[in-house]
Amino acid sequence: MCGIFAYLNYLTPKSRQEVLDLLVTGLKRLEYRGYDSTGVAIDSLDNKDIVMVKRTGKVKVLEDAIKEHFSGGEYSEPVLTHMGIAHTRWATHGVPCERNSHPQRSDEGNSFVVVHNGIITNYNDVKTFLSKKGYEFESETDTEVFAKLVHHLWKKHPNYSFRELVEQAIQQVEGAFAIAVKSKHFPGECVASRRSSPLLVGIKTKTRLATDHIPILYGKDVDSSKASELRPHGQTRELPVLPRSDSTSEFMPEQKEVEYFFASDASAVIEHTNRVIYLEDDDVAAVRNGILSIHRLKKSLDDPHAREITTLKMEIQQIMKGNYEYFMQKEIFEQPDSVVNTMRGRVRFDGQSIVLGGIKDYIPEIKRCRRLMLIGCGTSYHSAVATRQLLEELTELPVMVELASDFLDRNTPIFRDDVCFFISQSGETADTLMALRYCKQRGALIVGITNTVGSSICRESHCGVHINAGPEIGVASTKAYTSQFISLVMFALVMSEDRLSLQQRRLEILQGLSKLAEQIREVLKLDNKVRELAKDLYQHKSLLIMGRGYNFATCLEGALKVKELTYMHSEGIMAGELKHGPLALVDDSMPVLMIVLRDPVYVKCMNALQQVTSRKGCPIIICEEGDEETKTFSSRHLEIPRTVDCLQGILTVIPMQLLSYHIAVLRGCDVDCPRNLAKSVTVE
Ligand code: M6R
Repeated sequence: MCGIFAYLNYLTPKSRQEVLDLLVTGLKRLEYRGYDSTGVAIDSLDNKDIVMVKRTGKVKVLEDAIKEHFSGGEYSEPVLTHMGIAHTRWATHGVPCERNSHPQRSDEGNSFVVVHNGIITNYNDVKTFLSKKGYEFESETDTEVFAKLVHHLWKKHPNYSFRELVEQAIQQVEGAFAIAVKSKHFPGECVASRRSSPLLVGIKTKTRLATDHIPILYGKDVDSSKASELRPHGQTRELPVLPRSDSTSEFMPEQKEVEYFFASDASAVIEHTNRVIYLEDDDVAAVRNGILSIHRLKKSLDDPHAREITTLKMEIQQIMKGNYEYFMQKEIFEQPDSVVNTMRGRVRFDGQSIVLGGIKDYIPEIKRCRRLMLIGCGTSYHSAVATRQLLEELTELPVMVELASDFLDRNTPIFRDDVCFFISQSGETADTLMALRYCKQRGALIVGITNTVGSSICRESHCGVHINAGPEIGVASTKAYTSQFISLVMFALVMSEDRLSLQQRRLEILQGLSKLAEQIREVLKLDNKVRELAKDLYQHKSLLIMGRGYNFATCLEGALKVKELTYMHSEGIMAGELKHGPLALVDDSMPVLMIVLRDPVYVKCMNALQQVTSRKGCPIIICEEGDEETKTFSSRHLEIPRTVDCLQGILTVIPMQLLSYHIAVLRGCDVDCPRNLAKSVTVE
């Protein structure tokens, strides 16, 4: 949900044009997070003002506008120290347009400009307060109140530092946010903060830093009743003056030449540096005179003394498209490797053993639990649906699968002896994170299954499994799904290690896993055939996808991919439900795809197939290689290699990913950035 990128070069000469190039490239890397509108802010030529360029639409539109705006030779003059901020937006408050694009400003003179990700939930209260102080608002965004609040505080406390002003302002706002602020009154400085929305700082120096830690500076205790004076029911009492945090005992060792990158995620900084600090909620990171410091207003008992500088393991190639047309296409074709990476160092095929380092110490506790709950959204939720049956079989525990949003709406009862899995590619999905906190408060054991190291779900879980699928840039989730699936299968295998009666079953699953990469390669060879099928389908309005048992999740996931990417209606239908209603949709013109594999529900699937064909339906069938009998029911089929029943879903979902991709291309849709969506949904 929105991408923030800010860049500060200290004693590292860069022209404004170079700075703008850096900002635009950063935005391109973050574009998958939101792409309704964009904007940048840099210093004016005389350094006395801030210049902003904002555009509706994608980063390319902004890039063209920047070229036009900053074409003069003076913009190529090097500047020793400079700070610029940039943003790509997924609209929440106010339609996508230039006025609502970020940066948002404090006043006509651009004293303070802000880029923001998340939602300030009490923005109406703050707005009312500031309106009474004479502020006039020019956008419909919640973000604008933050810029104006900092300005108000600056007028009130002219001797406060930039960092102190932002620190005071974040105490007055509620909700989830990541922000970066620039000010013409504090040139060459940047202040950034986060709460429930990711933000990291990349550090690039010529020589290696003398430390791997940035000490945290704490303020004196805050009376929290004062801090909330703005909150209740739109009351607009005077803002409290909060204690100022200690600013004397600074910082990390002085750097002569240094560049800082503030970004919503690592993909935007990896081409510049692999040294990053992941900020925690309510950290305020400030750069002044080239020195980074991290502040917190209050200290609780378990707070650490420093934030660690971590080295990213990511490679730049992982975030490039290479020879592929789209990231999604690349990510589909990466699956033979990504599934192996998920199992690497965990599954020993020779010794038939599995070790999940991130949860192994918790296995005895998990085995004693009352039930397993698998919670996620969208594709991540489907990975739970896909593996539920196997988890029930191998753990012999009740397994509930839950959509995070619905789970919260219901105030679902949770007990201390529940084990709750939170599945999320990004590790930042707000609904999933809220559900996690809900379960944690009630004493359940929290297990995170994520693809993003350092994400909120990772950090807030008691233990977990990194799915190691590598960065997923396409908004449509593909390789993360298959890796989530395998992670849950591995967990089921770990849970059944000492069950004699299950050894034969475990063995066949392990053998299935060992052949998976090769079989995925085989399935990917269907690409041309799938493209031909897409040509039959792309002008239709709807596609019904039917199956049951281990393949029901593929139907849901396939339908989600089709909707998300092609804007066609699509529905995943449990084949057993056909006669209870959906069969009425079937006639000779309704596109239907059916998954019919030789597994325990084969006969039931064949019944469904016959119900469809006897209503003149002409389904496309996904069946097993060489299954001549099933193929007689349709001239259009996709044959996939045979595997153990519980792993079929990994092979059947790949044709669905390819099909949605090709239909989207044929329909002229933007495959990597579907309309109205964003990769990481950090708002509830
Ligand atoms: O990052 P998460 O796995 O938590 O995201 C959950 C959903 O938003 C996500 O899977 C979404 O459904 C995908 N765009 C579907 O392709």
